Amino acid sequence: MKKTAIAPANIAFIKYWAKADSKERIPKNDSISMCLSEMVSVCTVEFDPQRKSDDITFSGEDVVTEKELKRIVSCLDRVRTATRVNEYAKVVTKNNFPKATGIASSASGFAALTLASVAAAGADMSEKELSILSRMSSGTACRSIPSGFVRWHKGEDSRSSYAEQIYPPDHWEICDVVVIVSSKMKKISSTKGHELAPTSPFYQARMDGMERKLHAIEEAIQKKDFSSFGRIIEDEALNMHAICLTSTPPIIYWESATLGIIKSVARLREDGLEGYVTIDAGPSVHLMCRQRDSEKFVQHFEQFEGVQKVVVNKPGRGAYLSDTHLF
Ligand code: DP6
Repeated sequence: MKKTAIAPANIAFIKYWAKADSKERIPKNDSISMCLSEMVSVCTVEFDPQRKSDDITFSGEDVVTEKELKRIVSCLDRVRTATRVNEYAKVVTKNNFPKATGIASSASGFAALTLASVAAAGADMSEKELSILSRMSSGTACRSIPSGFVRWHKGEDSRSSYAEQIYPPDHWEICDVVVIVSSKMKKISSTKGHELAPTSPFYQARMDGMERKLHAIEEAIQKKDFSSFGRIIEDEALNMHAICLTSTPPIIYWESATLGIIKSVARLREDGLEGYVTIDAGPSVHLMCRQRDSEKFVQHFEQFEGVQKVVVNKPGRGAYLSDTHLF
């Protein structure tokens, strides 16, 4: 059977940064995120008894590393074990945001691959089971399975570490204006970053404040209190990057444009245009604003030096199956 899945990228408001179990990808803390409506991966999978090995194609990408291919084969292996299918697969996968933009595609990519391969194996899994299975390939992938606003429960073991929806996409009219900043630096993988986080002298302080922050962000989302929400997400992003800067060895994900954008958003706020930033393990900035203000931010950032592209996302749908196959 040939099956195709589409899955969104997601942006974390409270970040996953350090693992309790790196092999199983169980995080040290819960995280809270939103699925993105416009940045997705599509993946088609077909198991075939005639095949002698997995055949994997990244459509639209020039360079695919051995490491990336291995990670995909491991994901297929987990699905084969879970569904008791013993055949190799043909896989074609594609992002609508090229890897070269530096935006992480592992969340959307592995969520789409997990759903497509489970369906192609003829198995029927619950959202929770799919979230658990995709988590093992890339932690953040588990948050791209449910729709809208999502909480990943860290859990105590593999069976209890999964993500679930806290509010559907139409709960709140906010958006994520993704400001893609170009970078020539080789990115330090987030897998490495998770490992280094506990070496920061500020790591324990981050963990001490975590429960309070998780509670505060859920309350702000529930009440649709944009100003409180914004202050919490900016504080959290700077907190995570403070951990990166003070890890041994340090990790500097920002480019000068990143800092320029952060400062300009603070200035725009003083002038009455309210937006707040959050940043993942890379130089690009996610600007959160009310949907009615998104065009003003787009115009502002399109002129900005060092900005490659600007993409406006609403709260999006989680992973789903599609009838339009890639082969
Ligand atoms: C910085 O999911 O990329 O985006 O589990 O090792 O694949 P692995 O890590 P990954 O973590 C990225 C974390 C982050 C913050 C977040 O989205 O919570």
